[in-house]
Amino acid sequence: MEGIYSFLAFYERKTAEVYEKIRPSIKNGTARLLISILAIDSRKHSEVFRHLSGGEVPKTAPEADLGPVAAEAVRILDEAESLIGKKAPLEILEGLVKYEKLMNEEYLVEIYAKALDLKQKNGTIKKVLNSIAEDENRHRDFLEQAISLEKGEAGS
Ligand SMILES: [Fe+2]
Ligand SMILES: [Fe+2]
Repeated sequence: MEGIYSFLAFYERKTAEVYEKIRPSIKNGTARLLISILAIDSRKHSEVFRHLSGGEVPKTAPEADLGPVAAEAVRILDEAESLIGKKAPLEILEGLVKYEKLMNEEYLVEIYAKALDLKQKNGTIKKVLNSIAEDENRHRDFLEQAISLEKGEAGS
C-alpha cells in the first residue's frame, strides 16, 4: 500500500497547486471560496496520504500501476496544469470536473479494493479513507457550483 499512498500524496499536492494557481483569476467571490476549499482539502489529503506512506511526498511523479481510471485522472490533471495562463480559467475548471469525478470513483473502486484487507483489519483507516471519499464526492459538486457562479448562472 505504501506505493499507492506516495502516489496519492504526490497527486493530491499537485491538485492543490493547480487550484491555488487558478483561484486568483476567478472573479466571483463565492466561486473563489469553493476553489479554496478544494485546494485546502487536497492539501489535507496529501498530508494524510504522506502520513500513511510513512515517508515524504515525492518530488517527482512516482510510478504506480493503479489502473486506467487513475491514469486518466493523472492525464487530465497534467493537462490542466499545462494550460494555466494559456487558457481561460473557466475552461480549465470545466476540464477538472471529470477529474474530480474520476477521483471519487478511484477512491471508491480502485483504492478501496486494494485497501480492503487493511480496512478489515483497521477500522480507523477505513474511517479515514471514507472521509476522503466523502470529500471527493463534494469536490465535484463544489467545482460545478463554482463554474456556474463564475459564469453568472447562479446567484452568489
Ligand atoms: Fe483529494
Ligand atoms: Fe478532489
